[in-house]
Amino acid sequence: MKGKTIVITGAANGIGKAWALGFQKENANVIAADIDSSRLESLANQGVTTAEVDVRDPQQISELLNKAQNETGRVDILFNNAGIAFGPTLEKSADGQFEDHIAVHLFGCIYGMRSAIPVMRAQGSGRIINTISRNAEVDVPGTSAYSAAKAAIWAASRVAARETSDADILINMLIPGPTNTKIWGKDRPELQSPETTFPTAKMLATLPPGGPTGKVFWDQKEYRLFDSNNDIHKAR
Ligand code: NAI
Repeated sequence: MKGKTIVITGAANGIGKAWALGFQKENANVIAADIDSSRLESLANQGVTTAEVDVRDPQQISELLNKAQNETGRVDILFNNAGIAFGPTLEKSADGQFEDHIAVHLFGCIYGMRSAIPVMRAQGSGRIINTISRNAEVDVPGTSAYSAAKAAIWAASRVAARETSDADILINMLIPGPTNTKIWGKDRPELQSPETTFPTAKMLATLPPGGPTGKVFWDQKEYRLFDSNNDIHKAR
């Protein structure tokens, strides 16, 4: 990873933080972006370049990618990973709550892809990895906005992958699997640690030219989201 520029959103905590530190250990130029400035500070203290960014704002995402280019000359890999927890049931959602979920998860991801693709085209290559979830394909109460956003990321990423297939740009999605992070609102020690997801992140960041694009990966293997044979459907 030496010399590669890797931008990660939602990098102040949980999964994004584990990736930021993992790639930093491998001598990449990591730019860790998040809205949580106090938790970013702890990453900055560990030598990671940080940027306070609200992914709901396209201007801030565009400035983030400019910063990466200005400081390192490139944007080799972008992880659109910022996220927020499930919400209330639809009937209990306040005005704006569903919209905010869509803004963080879906629009954050769209703004990231929209800003990064021209940069990657100009430099001749790039890898984009969008964090999604099996919640996209199941009907857990309280997840209408979360699952709608993740399903929409799947749809948009596949189209973007096809639209960039004339270049060495690979756009894939990563399912972390249930992971002990603050997104659950409490400690869940029975779940895997965020670091467990790093090998899949690294695999997707280092795909060779001609590698898969528009696909979903979980635990380093392709996962066919929305396939009726998936265990998650059989269990219901
Ligand atoms: P986390 O809560 O530890 O990290 C999410 C990060 O996103 C936080 O640092 C938060 O400050 C940041 N963020 C939230 N809103 C933002 C905004 N507007 N602008 C910039 N940053 C913002 O949670 P976790 O688990 O690390 O989540 C990372 C991704 O993984 C999310 O997309 C989540 O949906 C996904 N995921 C997590 C799973 C889990 O079990 N933890 C399972 C499946 C998917």
